[in-house]
Amino acid sequence: MAYTVPKLKSFSPAALDNAVEKLLAALEQESGSLRGGDERKTFRDRWLARKDGILAQVNELWLKPAPKDAKREVGQRVNKLKVEVEAKLEAALAQQASGGDESSLDISLPGIARSIGAEHPIIRTQNEIVRVFQNLGYSVAEGPVIETDYYNFEALNFPPNHPARDSQDTLFLANQESKPRREQLLLRTHTSPVQIRAMEKMKPPLRILIPGKVHRNDPPDASHSPMFHQVEGLAVDTNITFGDLKGTLDHAMKALFGSDVKTSFRPSFFPFTEPSAEMFVSCFICGGSGKREADPCRPCKQTGWIEILGCGMVDPNVFEFVKQNGYDPEKVSGFAFGMGVDRIAMLKYGLDDLQLFFQGDVRFLEQFG
Ligand code: DAH
Repeated sequence: MAYTVPKLKSFSPAALDNAVEKLLAALEQESGSLRGGDERKTFRDRWLARKDGILAQVNELWLKPAPKDAKREVGQRVNKLKVEVEAKLEAALAQQASGGDESSLDISLPGIARSIGAEHPIIRTQNEIVRVFQNLGYSVAEGPVIETDYYNFEALNFPPNHPARDSQDTLFLANQESKPRREQLLLRTHTSPVQIRAMEKMKPPLRILIPGKVHRNDPPDASHSPMFHQVEGLAVDTNITFGDLKGTLDHAMKALFGSDVKTSFRPSFFPFTEPSAEMFVSCFICGGSGKREADPCRPCKQTGWIEILGCGMVDPNVFEFVKQNGYDPEKVSGFAFGMGVDRIAMLKYGLDDLQLFFQGDVRFLEQFG
């Protein structure tokens, strides 16, 4: 039964307290079960309406008829009640504003879908390359992007002042001059230093793949960027031969670009491999013909071949730097290779501007997911 304001038979403090207690119990109960905004309005009108609201009735039925000597007692209680009722109403409104109102939660509405972006096409390509080699039993190793001269050059058989260092336009960190050369810091120009770091940590046999960012002092244009990505590979064991290198890379290229592609190895030079080679794959865009319909094929410059990576047999001089960890060049041999991920991603997705990868335009990047 809904609460109604009773007439008072007695105005004694005990009777007043009793009446106030009952009213407050009713207030508590009614304010506690408020749901929608409509119910709050009804509640407000029922308790606070100037004409006939419960507080108005309290005035009418308790205060007005109170005998003179009880007026003060009644007055105090009525004022307190007013404060209580208003506080309850405010609390109910605040709950609505903070969204804590169950009735405003419609669990049948679809959720707010968050845009989760897309895997970046370079990372996607990098992961594809990594997966091909993981399937061959390679594990993944990583190393620091800020590297010492020792790992980036010296232990890879680039002696100080050797002209081969000039082929990698290096970004050095400032204020390193007071350190010995091998400790000077730079942004690694290739992922090859992780070959040394891995061989320092792990004994042979070893099969690792090293993806990561590298930097060179190249101004950005359609085919250059001061930051780019490489994937490096290293296999060391007893009796590893150039035949293993060719077989492994030929398999990997077929897995990446399609089983029709052919590979071709041409002599090259890297300080850390001997012999060294550049590996080409037959152009998977024109099928090796050098032509796309009547037009010349641009990606392979009409040669029918695309240069993909550098590789070779690990130079014994490199093993000398990690000999104490079991890499005796008399006992072990190995091959290594390194490829540019960004260029491979451009070829795979048919892009002619490298900068598109780094401008962060989601409309471009999400096309590759
Ligand atoms: N580090 C070389 C570069 O960035 C690429 C490379 C060539 C890596 C031959 C290798 C390799 O491991 O054997 O130009």
